[in-house]
Amino acid sequence: MTAGYRLLADADLTRRNTFGVAVRAPLLVEVQDTAALPSLFANELAGTAPLVLGGGSNLLFAGDPDIPVLSIDAREIDILADEGDHTIVRADAGVEWHRFVMETLSRGLCGLENLALIPGTVGAAPIQNIGAYGVEVETRIHCVEAFERASGALQRLSPQDCAFAYRDSAFKRDPARWIVTAVEFNLTREAAPALDYAGLRDELAAMDIAAPNASQVAEAVIRIRRRKLPDPAVIGNAGSFFKNPIVPVALAEALQAEHPSLPMFPGSGADTRKLSAAWLIDRCGWKGAREGDAGVSEKHALVLVNHGHATGAQLLDLARRIAASVRERFGVSLEPEPRIVQGIWD
Ligand code: EPU
Repeated sequence: MTAGYRLLADADLTRRNTFGVAVRAPLLVEVQDTAALPSLFANELAGTAPLVLGGGSNLLFAGDPDIPVLSIDAREIDILADEGDHTIVRADAGVEWHRFVMETLSRGLCGLENLALIPGTVGAAPIQNIGAYGVEVETRIHCVEAFERASGALQRLSPQDCAFAYRDSAFKRDPARWIVTAVEFNLTREAAPALDYAGLRDELAAMDIAAPNASQVAEAVIRIRRRKLPDPAVIGNAGSFFKNPIVPVALAEALQAEHPSLPMFPGSGADTRKLSAAWLIDRCGWKGAREGDAGVSEKHALVLVNHGHATGAQLLDLARRIAASVRERFGVSLEPEPRIVQGIWD
């Protein structure tokens, strides 16, 4: 395998999407060496805009993709700078995210502990601007290395260039332009635990830990996630299926006046608030619902699950009906968090 990539025709993607939806791609390209991308796009993939697949944990295949699928399988981790309290760590896009978090912690590097156990790859992290337990990955990113299809070259993008927002980035907004190949992170030797997310301090207290180090914060996050979220290795799912909706402050306040237990968080500016999609869906009675093999997790109302042989179209149909009932009851529109392939949301 000297080319740096491998081509597989008529590839089964069932195990390459965490929903476990059975779909096939006309061509799967596995790229082991990202230096091969210019020649790959000048030859085999010339004129095509392939679908780039990470861990498959943030997409829903509503049907067989009709375009080539490309996966970056490079998996190196390097410490690029290590001076005093400041460290820059580079990881290839194909490194499994949770393995990377644990690897940094085992090397005494802090900053990613709240993001433990998120399914997916390092390459997907900036695309989705993954976040959990009070930390969004954008705050830890030094730069993103990405292949730009139009120029045929690898570019380094600063956090500003990445235009991060809640579960959003320049990469997500323009998926045909970029292929993320590696990410550099700013980490520290000194822990600065972020413990304000509801439940995190309680979990640490239950573990009998008063002044946690970064590994202990990760352990608490892992315990909460295992309890609250279904494991994709056990039941197909893609984490939160909907984003928490950001709505005008007047609507948020009117809803909270009527429903005092509705969780509300700061929005994207002074005139908006973020509401809990899980709460809205739960109140519409969907938690634990099941139609054939498509369902809503019994553990968390925001997570759609595949009980076995659900098709992507069935899951998408269920998601649309959940969103319609939330809109009807609360006047709030929900938007899917995962990318929907071969299907349209609205
Ligand atoms: N809730 C319910 N019913 C449920 C679950 C939750 O009413 O079945 C209510 C509770 O009031 C709870 C609130 O929703 O306090 C918030 O729940 P949770 O703490 O689980 O957070 P979330 O807003 O539902 C977000 C992220 C998760 C992330 C957690 C923790 C989004 C779309 N989701 O969920 O991220 O793990 O916070 O930080 O922002 C993901 O993106 O795939 C994901 C799992």
